[in-house]
Amino acid sequence: MLPSAHAHAMQVEREVLGKVSPTAERRDAIQRTVRSLLETVRKEADARDLGLEVMLVGSVAKDTYLNDPDIDVFVLFPELISRNKLEKTGLDIGRRTLTKVEERYAEHPYIHGEWEGLEVDLVPCYHIKDPQCLRSAVDRTPFHTRYVQSHLGEGQKGEVRLLKRFAKGVGVYGAEARVQGFSGYLLEILVMKYGSFRAVLEHASEWKKGVTLGLEEDQGKRFQDPLVFYDPVDRGRNVASALSANSFALFIHAAREYLKAPSERFFFPSPREPLSVEDIRKAVAERGTGMVVVELDRPDLIDDNLYPQARKSLDGLAALLASYDFTVLDKTFHIGDRIRFVIELRSLTLPRAARHNGPPAWIDNASSFLEKWKGAGLSEPFLENGHWSVMVRREHTGPKSLIEAKFSSAGPGSDLRDLKGLRVETGEMAISERNRSALSLLLDKRKNWEV
Ligand code: UTP
Ligand code: MN
Ligand code: MN
Repeated sequence: MLPSAHAHAMQVEREVLGKVSPTAERRDAIQRTVRSLLETVRKEADARDLGLEVMLVGSVAKDTYLNDPDIDVFVLFPELISRNKLEKTGLDIGRRTLTKVEERYAEHPYIHGEWEGLEVDLVPCYHIKDPQCLRSAVDRTPFHTRYVQSHLGEGQKGEVRLLKRFAKGVGVYGAEARVQGFSGYLLEILVMKYGSFRAVLEHASEWKKGVTLGLEEDQGKRFQDPLVFYDPVDRGRNVASALSANSFALFIHAAREYLKAPSERFFFPSPREPLSVEDIRKAVAERGTGMVVVELDRPDLIDDNLYPQARKSLDGLAALLASYDFTVLDKTFHIGDRIRFVIELRSLTLPRAARHNGPPAWIDNASSFLEKWKGAGLSEPFLENGHWSVMVRREHTGPKSLIEAKFSSAGPGSDLRDLKGLRVETGEMAISERNRSALSLLLDKRKNWEV
């Protein structure tokens, strides 16, 4: 980093830290809210007489929260209690305690709600002795909380806050399926590893795919993920397992750009407006490519289930188009009131004729090829280098009929397979107010800090 950039970075980081650190009053208010919440949950838990424990976890417990934290409360169940009983009791405690409750169920059921105006996640888990012997997916969390509480230095909490805000601004904060980014815990142990916000960025700017990190000496098993950080409480697990190659790459790129020219824009990007329909029309006309928008009804699923299915569907669509000779230049999906897949094709039309290659003339079943295509194609079978070929009639010369006929068998996500509300629009028809956000997502490639 150049000395001038260094001084500038110090100033930027000081300012951001001022904005993301809770004030003393805010801190007190959160402490009071947490205390009253824990008291109420504890009463509910004790009334069951099952030996339940209540524990504050997450960033409020670790003092690494940003201004608007959620409160994460775990209810720990003895291992003898059945899974079924844990789920029922856990959800019931949440429902009786919180307001605006929503039952959320990805891999593990829990209750999301509110307490005195703050968002709360109330999660049941097993009280296990050894984090390597999980009974449910979230049983490690209390270990993570205690690990950070005992290993993160007081002076590093601000560094974590900066790094969280940076990752949020860049668009890679959160291990959930929608983001496929860095969890709060991963950022906390990155700060422990490298010492400070800036040191994390300096190292990240040199990361290569497959970089492997840990806090202890001996390392665990091998992983194929873009970034591996052995969990200090369970060497058999990669804390960064949810991180996609793109989020990994975007973080590296952002780190390099920030170190070159530090700015608050990385932490607090300007909101991005979708391009106007007019600008979209101009951009597409200039490119001369063909836009396809495929719409489906949005099924009633939580994001952690919906996003993986949408990704899978998009890949299936692109593979379908490619297998019918369309050239896919770019693709994305947008989830709003409906699901919209956007695919940019080199061209929206293919010629009626396609060449179909057959066997060499000297093999036995060459005759069946000849019989099949005699008078049936756009040409008679012909020889090239001793192999038969024929010009045939293409079934789909545009993407619309192909998608309508074949999308359901092109591997869409299981809850999208019935193609409820399918609508396929191409070219000029696709460029409309309704499709604006989805098309913008594909066309507007500015990074968050460049908006
Ligand atoms: P959070 O996503 O709230 O992260 O999960 P955090 O560390 O508190 O960071 P911020 O500041 O809110 O963004 C808190 C802990 O609870 C676990 C997570 O794994 C994390 O360790 N958790 C939360 C679950 O295991 N399951 C859930 O459904 C929710
Ligand atoms: Mn939290
Ligand atoms: Mn949470």
